[in-house]
Amino acid sequence: MTYSEEFAKIVEEQLARVANMKACSEKTDFANKEKIIIGTIDGDGIGPVIMDSCRAVLQKLLADEIASGKIELRRIEGLTLENRVAKMQAVPEDVLAEIKKCDVLLKGPTTTPGKGTRLPGSGDEVPNLPSANVTLRRELDLFANVRPVTIPEKNISWTFYRENTEGEYALGSRGVDISDDISIDFKVTTTQGTKRLARAAFEYAKNNGNLNVSIVTKANIMKKTDGKFLSLCMEVADNYPDIKVDDWYVDIMAANLINDDINSNFNVFILPNLYGDIITDEAAQMQGGVGTAGSSNIGDRYAMFEAIHGSAPRMVEEGIAEYANPASINRAAVMMLRHMGFSNKADLLESAIDAAAGALDLPGDGTGNTAADFTEFVLARI
Ligand code: IPM
Ligand code: MG
Repeated sequence: MTYSEEFAKIVEEQLARVANMKACSEKTDFANKEKIIIGTIDGDGIGPVIMDSCRAVLQKLLADEIASGKIELRRIEGLTLENRVAKMQAVPEDVLAEIKKCDVLLKGPTTTPGKGTRLPGSGDEVPNLPSANVTLRRELDLFANVRPVTIPEKNISWTFYRENTEGEYALGSRGVDISDDISIDFKVTTTQGTKRLARAAFEYAKNNGNLNVSIVTKANIMKKTDGKFLSLCMEVADNYPDIKVDDWYVDIMAANLINDDINSNFNVFILPNLYGDIITDEAAQMQGGVGTAGSSNIGDRYAMFEAIHGSAPRMVEEGIAEYANPASINRAAVMMLRHMGFSNKADLLESAIDAAAGALDLPGDGTGNTAADFTEFVLARI
């Protein structure tokens, strides 16, 4: 295929995606659903350790609903790096089919192959497969990546609405080497993809007392894609006259977040995919580390909740996986419970995790408390 044919194919696919978004999608109604299936996916590296913690917590917290058949906790196997490499698929087809039978998913970290990623055990270099995370977000159409960060002592309460299915990620594995000397990647912004994200963010801001909304782009440089993103967000903002809206370039926003004179004025952020990726790590680090935040991926039909941190293969290699901190995945479970309408259980779990954060020490270097200590502490409080 010549590169112009390849580009034409990419454009056709994106047009088809837009047509799909235009066709009304069904929305899961948890309140009236007879049975909710929660799929749990271990992932790679420290994934099984932190997911065991979270499953134990959910089994206790949801004991009545599980007993009555209202909720099923279903373990989904096979989303491991080894299996993805063996099948040469970012998410093996049979695994994806099982995942699509669930309603909500709780997922441990999956290793994203990059240059030099090695297979655990054999040490063989992993082929440069697309990210399982990104593939799942796209396959399940999880368009909003919602990441809350709170720093009470600084009066900071932020909620990030990161676009999750397009931007730099839509075609992240589909760039083209034009020649030995030139490589080109693509960035995609669509009207439908942007508006649905902006609406979700503004609805959240409205339902929580008209919080301030900040739109973050680099529209002065990425004039088409970010320019469109910004003007569409502004268009959506017109429907929310009681909400204070401002817009910032991502570089100065990175600085604003660590400027204690102004950072507590920000509440809700709307960002394209890649800037959201970067800025939410910065924010999570300010909260106490990337291991402390939770992350939810919300679509109309499905929702997936995950730890914000990676699979930490080094901890497994060093034999200290049992010291992994399950806080982030348990915070993801809090968000999942809220999404499903179980806010009392979510509050209960959240305060147990907060208490654990104050009482235990999990630096992740093989010293201090273990994941099992964390689980025991939380189980005693729920
Ligand atoms: C995240 C992660 C992922 C991303 C990686 C693992 C693909 O950094 O969830 O923020 O880039 O989105
Ligand atoms: Mg990230």
